[in-house]
Amino acid sequence: MDVQRRDFLLTGAVAAAAAASVAPALAQTAAAPVGPGTERGGNARPGDERIQYQGGTEVKRLRIINTAELEIEAEKILPKGGYGYIFGGSGSEYTKRENLRAMESIHLEPHFLSGVGKPDLSTTILGHKLPFPIIVPPMGSHGLAHVSKEIGTATAAKAVGTVMMLSMQSNVPLEEVAKANPGNMWMQLYFPADRGYAREVIMRAKEAGYTAIVPTIDSTLAYPRDNNIRNDFRIPVSLGKGNAPLNEPDTVKAANMMGRRKVDLNFDDMVWIKEQTGLKVIPKGIMSPATAIQAVERGLDAVYVSNHGGRALDGVAPAINQLPRIADAVRGRAPIIFDSGIRRGQDVFRALALGADVVACGRPILYGLALGGPLGAQSVLEYLRDDLYIVMQLTGCKDIKSVTRDRLAPRIA
Ligand SMILES: Cc1cc2nc3c(=O)[nH]c(=O)nc-3n(C[C@H](O)[C@H](O)[C@H](O)COP(=O)(O)O)c2cc1C
Repeated sequence: MDVQRRDFLLTGAVAAAAAASVAPALAQTAAAPVGPGTERGGNARPGDERIQYQGGTEVKRLRIINTAELEIEAEKILPKGGYGYIFGGSGSEYTKRENLRAMESIHLEPHFLSGVGKPDLSTTILGHKLPFPIIVPPMGSHGLAHVSKEIGTATAAKAVGTVMMLSMQSNVPLEEVAKANPGNMWMQLYFPADRGYAREVIMRAKEAGYTAIVPTIDSTLAYPRDNNIRNDFRIPVSLGKGNAPLNEPDTVKAANMMGRRKVDLNFDDMVWIKEQTGLKVIPKGIMSPATAIQAVERGLDAVYVSNHGGRALDGVAPAINQLPRIADAVRGRAPIIFDSGIRRGQDVFRALALGADVVACGRPILYGLALGGPLGAQSVLEYLRDDLYIVMQLTGCKDIKSVTRDRLAPRIA
């Protein structure tokens, strides 16, 4: 990888982080209270809109050897607080670590001499034709990674022809991002406590051409993230709150309103989104067969298996371990989307074999964005595609449908 180290603007939050690294225990007491009833994202303070921050600025293709090295390079160029926010998981990061460990513990079983020449990676999901089964998951505040923000990522998605899910917490308004990847956008929703505001966001998305709403169901409350507390990090309001309530001009108040979520979220709320918009609804964060079965029975359009990359409830199982039981429960009645721990083509293959129809890859795309803007994020997607191609060829899978469980080795007890 050819990456230049560069200077970056120190933010107030980063300066605080430097002090906090000297006395982390003290920093925890000094940080904003995080406890029962504290809602996610609602911790902006007056004056936060003046905190300056700058992500990466370079625009270039990356020669990617593996995504772990991208993480190391991104750390060198990003402000500490922003890097920590992207890198981190919740709690002691047990689930984040387990996602990667569990993924690597699944062995492939190649069927050699199968006569497969060039595997076909193309697939479809909910009416979208994809050249390969990898899409972009919703991630808040791409401005933490790169000055091109979500426009950079959407440009990358468009270049490779795939779907991008836009986080409700995007820096750039959903209407502008949609123009960068027209026809291939889904809108993520942190269901707000204020139903009028919830309606405003989903109707804006419909109007702008998004074809699905992706309500995230695993984050009705904050599970503390040690990293952010230690760094006293809050996403700088100055980066932009693209989907803040239209009738709230005060940016700090708007940021906090975005953070006030409906804590008693339930299936009726999911159905309500469908009734209001007529769009596809994909609950994100399903981690049990029971929730998946109900999602199918309530007429939701897909099942999104994810533990938020280990950023929601720490201590839950690695998402890949839950996937086969969930797929068995769904029985093909709805497509399955999977994320949490995809780092190589092998991982895409493992998830497909265990029942996913498409996968999403999170942090590596933001590291690619940080290091090379739209071309960097595009390089990550192409790296995963090319690696999957090799794995499919070597395991003897001619197309996505043939990536089945018999291409994985049984566990030896
Ligand atoms: C910086 C960052 C911000 C995220 N923001 C959101 C978000 O706004 N909404 C959401 O549903 N998931 C969010 N996620 C979780 C991702 O959608 C995805 O589930 C996760 O990144 C997958 O794990 P991976 O990073 O190991 O690939 C975020 C993840 C990261 C790394």
